[in-house]
Order: sequence, then structure tokens, then C-alpha cells
Amino acid sequence: MSAAAILLEVEDLSISFPTDVGLARAVEGVSFVLREGETVGIVGESGSGKSMTAMAIMGLLPKKAVVTGSIRFRGKELVGLSDDKLREIRGKDIAVVFQDALTALNPVMRVGEQLDEAVRVHRPDTTASERRARAIELLDVVGIPSPELRVDRYPHEFSGGMRQRVMIAMSIANEPDLLIADEPTTALDVTVQAQVLEVLREVQRRTGTTVLLITHDLGVVAGTADRVMVMYAGGLVETADVDPLFYETAHPYTAGLLASLPRLDRRSSREERLYQIAGQPPVATAWPVGCRFAPRCAHAVAGLCDAATPPPVAVGEGHTAACVRVDEWQKEAVL
Ligand SMILES: Nc1ncnc2c1ncn2[C@@H]1O[C@H](COP(=O)(O)OP(=O)(O)OP(=O)(O)O)[C@@H](O)[C@H]1O
Ligand code: SF4
Ligand SMILES: [Mg+2]
Repeated sequence: MSAAAILLEVEDLSISFPTDVGLARAVEGVSFVLREGETVGIVGESGSGKSMTAMAIMGLLPKKAVVTGSIRFRGKELVGLSDDKLREIRGKDIAVVFQDALTALNPVMRVGEQLDEAVRVHRPDTTASERRARAIELLDVVGIPSPELRVDRYPHEFSGGMRQRVMIAMSIANEPDLLIADEPTTALDVTVQAQVLEVLREVQRRTGTTVLLITHDLGVVAGTADRVMVMYAGGLVETADVDPLFYETAHPYTAGLLASLPRLDRRSSREERLYQIAGQPPVATAWPVGCRFAPRCAHAVAGLCDAATPPPVAVGEGHTAACVRVDEWQKEAVL
């Protein structure tokens, strides 16, 4: 494990929302640490709490959200900080790239003007020509050809992948220490996805920024992240460096996600359908008691798995899994 300084420390984070059908416990008891310069993936199915965790770090949760626990950025507590203070941090120290670049960009403003604005908000002392030079430089960093020409174009003149590159350029405009990318490639086709991920890697290499990459796709983190946190039903179920996660999988849910990945070395045929985890994820207003994966887990043991929420246990260096049968389930033949 890396010995780099701790950038972000999340401790026992819980986020809930009052709804018509009761309290939605979107995130519960999540703890993790991000170190300087690492790329960490959060993976999980829809509704598992990935975006809510990211929004809490950004201070962008809806007002009705109830947040407990602690989020410390360079030792400074972010939970409970005023909107003004959070706005200061956002975009400068912590920046985010969302999934939908088309709606996040202003359609009636040239790309260069939007980059200019992103820089000016946090560095009002810069001149217009300095900001234009910076905009061109940023477009170059994210691999946009002829940036000196493209800087004067509108978002609709860019392809989906190119727009996502522009979003990445905007997010790194002020050299943030932490870049959160929430499903940055989900809306793109496979080839363009790979290019955008390569841009993120290149940005990480050139700027040394810490990247938190959120995705429902384990394949995306495989080639991009150093470390992965797997979320299920509002909690972290497994955390590991990428290789141990893939080759020494310790949680049955992660094993299910891995088995449902398309593999290039396996020839697919009608007989060899892709594995799918049985059943549906539970909803945040009615989590199952005990291990929340139990209703879908082929290794569940009644009276044991549904007794209490399994705490994360260490299974290797920097590798934890929240499963009470962590030593036994692998010996069983089913997934
Ligand atoms: N404004 C809200 N009010 C009530 N519940 C909400 C609200 N926003 C999200 N939730 C609930 O919080 C839970 C976590 O949502 P979140 O958006 O973090 O999931 P996610 O892992 O990012 O999923 P996806 O892959 O679909 O983006 C979900 O169960 C959702 O129903
Ligand atoms: S605690 Fe039980 S139900 Fe949960 S993942 Fe482990 S074996 Fe499956
Ligand atoms: Mg999300």
C-alpha cells in the first residue's frame, strides 16, 4: 500500500433522506481514506450510494439529506461547513466530472468562454489573455486536436467524447487536489470510453491529482484505478488494490460482479450466456436485516448472515471484506 499523505478521510459516513415511504438510508457507515496521487474506483450497481457519497464530499447533497459522520479534506472537516466555504473548495481543491457532459456544458457559450469562467472564479487576478492561453493549454492536455481553433467553438460542434474531454478540462482548470469522476464514460460508446479513460489517466500522470472514479462497471476500474471500493446497498462490502480484488476476491458480491463481466478470452455462444447476479438490489427504504446481500447470495446461511450487518474484516494488506463467511464461501462450488 502507498505511504503517500492522506488527502481525504471519510469516517462512518451516513446519508439519509425522508421520503413518502419512510427514511431512505442511502449510505450507511462508510469509511475510507484517499491518499495523494492515487486513483481509486467506487463500483456498485445502480442505487448503491456511489453518487451520494461523491455528492457528500462535494457538499452538493440536497438540503433535505441528513448527513452524519465525518469527511476530512487535508484534515479539515467538510460536514456541516457553510455553503460559502464549500463553494470555495469546490472547483478549486475538489472538482467533479459528471456523466452527462451535454447538459453540464452551457450550449450558448463558446467552450473557451466556459473554461475562462472556470479559471476566473477561483483566480480573478488573471488577465483575459492569460486565461485564453490556459484554456488552449487545457484543451491540449485532454487531447483535443487544434485547441487554438476549437477554443472558439460551441459545445454542439464537439462529439460526445470530445465534450467529455472538455468537461475534464474544465474540472482540472484550477489544478484540484481531488478529481471526482462520476460515471464519466457511461454515456459513451466503448471505443470513446477507452479514449476518455486514457485522458483521465494522462491527466492523473501529468498533474498528480487524486482521482475518485465512480462506475457501475468493474471493467472500467480494472485498467484505470490503483484501488477499488465495492459498494452494495449503501455500504462498502470489499476494498482492495485492483489485482487482489480480481484474483483474491473475498466477497461473494464482488465475485458476482466479476462473473458478469464480458471476457475477451471467453468465446461467447448461446450456451455460454453471461452470468447475472440473481434477483434485484434492495431499496434504500427497506434494507434487509443483517448482510444486505443475503437475499441474493448463494452462500447465505440463515441465522448467521441475517443476524447482524457484517463488519469489514481484514483479509490481506489493505484488503477488507464485509462477509461473515469470508473464510468458507470460496470452498463452495456455486457463485
Ligand atoms: N433526493 C433523494 N431523495 C430520496 N432518496 C434519494 C434521493 N437521491 C437518491 N436517493 C436514494 O439514495 C440511494 C443511493 O443513490 P445514488 O444516486 O447514490 O446511487 P448510485 O450508486 O449513484 O446509482 P447509479 O448507478 O444509478 O447512479 C438510492 O437508493 C436512491 O433511491
Ligand atoms: S455474509 Fe453471508 S450473505 Fe453476506 S455475503 Fe457473506 S456469505 Fe453472503
Ligand atoms: Mg450515481
